[in-house]
Amino acid sequence: MRQLKRILTPEDIQGRVEELGASISDYYEATPDLLVIGLLKGSFIFLADLVRRIRTPHEIAFLGIESYGDSMQTGGRIEMTYNPKPRIHGRSVLLVDDIIDTGQTMNFVLPILEEQGAGEIEVCVLLHKRKASNLKCDARWVGFDAPQDFLVGYGLGLGEQFRHLPYIAAVVDDT
Ligand code: IMP
Ligand code: MG
Repeated sequence: MRQLKRILTPEDIQGRVEELGASISDYYEATPDLLVIGLLKGSFIFLADLVRRIRTPHEIAFLGIESYGDSMQTGGRIEMTYNPKPRIHGRSVLLVDDIIDTGQTMNFVLPILEEQGAGEIEVCVLLHKRKASNLKCDARWVGFDAPQDFLVGYGLGLGEQFRHLPYIAAVVDDT
């Protein structure tokens, strides 16, 4: 039977988000016109907490990228499901996502932003499974190294469930 095994408490997450926000604020201290882009849906809670810790003035935008259906495996198929076309050209872009697993999502989005003439692009993720070997640009900021299990909660979903959980849990088979 599938069980949820809690691995990060709300307090663990908030403490780390505060540190990430401080580091990001220092890095972008002198940057005008910063654009923070969250990838939907997984980043929505992390982004909401993170931007409240970033002191540098910035605009927030979202792109919808879908790579997982209802299963715990990457389908290899990836598509952009929402793109309101924020102004990218010449801007410093901070790309925020919940997790890097195979790296496919980042490798799909980064060239799109480059083609649109983004200035500097940096990546911040809450979780990193550290198994992607061919990342076009690795994350400058990582909240936590993650186990290889499928994770849910704090924005991360499984079949569109569990995103609302305030903690992060691994989906484990205990049979
Ligand atoms: P990647 O493209 O394989 O790096 O996977 C990144 C995307 O897949 C993330 O934006 C998540 O939406 C989703 N994903 C990857 N691993 C997990 C997981 O353990 N739980 C929930 N979503 C995941
Ligand atoms: Mg995602």
